[in-house]
Amino acid sequence: MTALKQPIQEADQEERSEALPDGTPLLGDQFTIDRALSNGGFGITYLAKDNYLDRNVVIKECYPEVFCMRRGKDVLVRSDQHKEKYRTIVKMFMREARSIAKMRHPNIVGVHRIFEDNHTAYMVLDLIHGRDLLSIVNDESDPLPPAQIKEILIKVLDAVDLVHQNDLLHRDISPDNILLDKWGSPFLIDFGAAREEASRETRAVSTVLIVKDGYSPQEFYFAGGKQGPSSDLYALGATFYHLISGVAPPNSQTRMAEFAGNNPDPCEPLAGRFPEYDQAFLAAIDKAMQILPKARLQSAREWLNIINREGQQVKPLKVSSRFNLNKTLTRLVSETNEYVLNSEPREPVKPTLKLKSAEPEVVSAPRWAEEFNEETTETLEEQRAVQKTVAELAARKAEREAAERRRKQWWRLGFLHRSKSKSLS
Ligand SMILES: Nc1ncnc2c1ncn2[C@@H]1O[C@H](COP(=O)(O)OP(=O)(O)OP(=O)(O)O)[C@@H](O)[C@H]1O
Ligand SMILES: [Mg+2]
Repeated sequence: MTALKQPIQEADQEERSEALPDGTPLLGDQFTIDRALSNGGFGITYLAKDNYLDRNVVIKECYPEVFCMRRGKDVLVRSDQHKEKYRTIVKMFMREARSIAKMRHPNIVGVHRIFEDNHTAYMVLDLIHGRDLLSIVNDESDPLPPAQIKEILIKVLDAVDLVHQNDLLHRDISPDNILLDKWGSPFLIDFGAAREEASRETRAVSTVLIVKDGYSPQEFYFAGGKQGPSSDLYALGATFYHLISGVAPPNSQTRMAEFAGNNPDPCEPLAGRFPEYDQAFLAAIDKAMQILPKARLQSAREWLNIINREGQQVKPLKVSSRFNLNKTLTRLVSETNEYVLNSEPREPVKPTLKLKSAEPEVVSAPRWAEEFNEETTETLEEQRAVQKTVAELAARKAEREAAERRRKQWWRLGFLHRSKSKSLS
């Protein structure tokens, strides 16, 4: 959905009630909220004005709704038990903003300020005039040509490569987190590290906050699932699978279950289906989207090299032995079953942001990357307290998704109506 061209509908009432009202000043009189754009459950995004520089900006407010609520302008912790956790999340949010600010790249959204106010944190982002890839793929009247899709992928891969070189993961690559400006240049937004911190409480919170069906790789669904650069590449592959085929790929958990049962993969490969694309280009996306991390492309650079050498065949990587494969699958499937059947909180998930890739190891990561990846712990009691709010959060997420669907339908109807009026006049 276009953030800037879309009027906020009645369906957004709940979203808006959590959000700061239009016209609210921030950081003294430096910024003024124009209107809320979205509430993703972890943060609230606003269109705002920088009064000193006299320009429009986007401001993201740290608002992990599992742990907090609004009173007046202030963000309050839901209960004393959440206090520590909430502070850690706010700290992570600030670190995340600093990390993005340090990664200067033409295809990563610019962060030009962070500040604390109303007992929470805010990041000020460059305003990108344009649309996100999800709204573009949903708008059947104006599909992106293959050459442009290829160009967008090359630019995003270059941005992802920089993220990985800095020992970071994006963790939430999806069509709604890539914006296309009016010149067609893509921008990566909405990094998910702080969200990962919030989700470390329980897998239930994790499922609500960090898993995006269709785009998240299977390791995001499992407690202790090891995440690395190939996890981001899976999500990027899934994003481009959607752009090219017009449909989001099936949930990676479903794919894995079918794989474990020796059934055909419900995700039909792209290669061989779209003659308007180079087959090596499509095969690289298929490879990035392999179920098992080992079988995927291992780095953004490797992917870029394949695109640059188009025409060569991508050879699928062979997994060492069927025996090991079955063992891994059995373990993963039993973990899923255990999670589904038993809602007791698990041991805190070990931090997984530190990357281990097939590339030569970076000898010393920059200090800010270490800080960004720092470990935190929480008590079992805290975990239990969080579980209480999970059901509520899941219901709100479902409501939000329904509202989003209604809004899209409304927008589409409006679009059809406008096109009809145009052709009649
Ligand atoms: N810099 C920006 N310029 C223009 N629009 C933006 C910008 N950042 C975000 N948006 C719009 O706001 C929407 C939501 O932003 P974002 O993806 O950062 O948060 P979210 O997904 O709603 O929240 P969460 O962090 O909880 O997942 C985006 O899909 C986009 O439409
Ligand atoms: Mg987002």
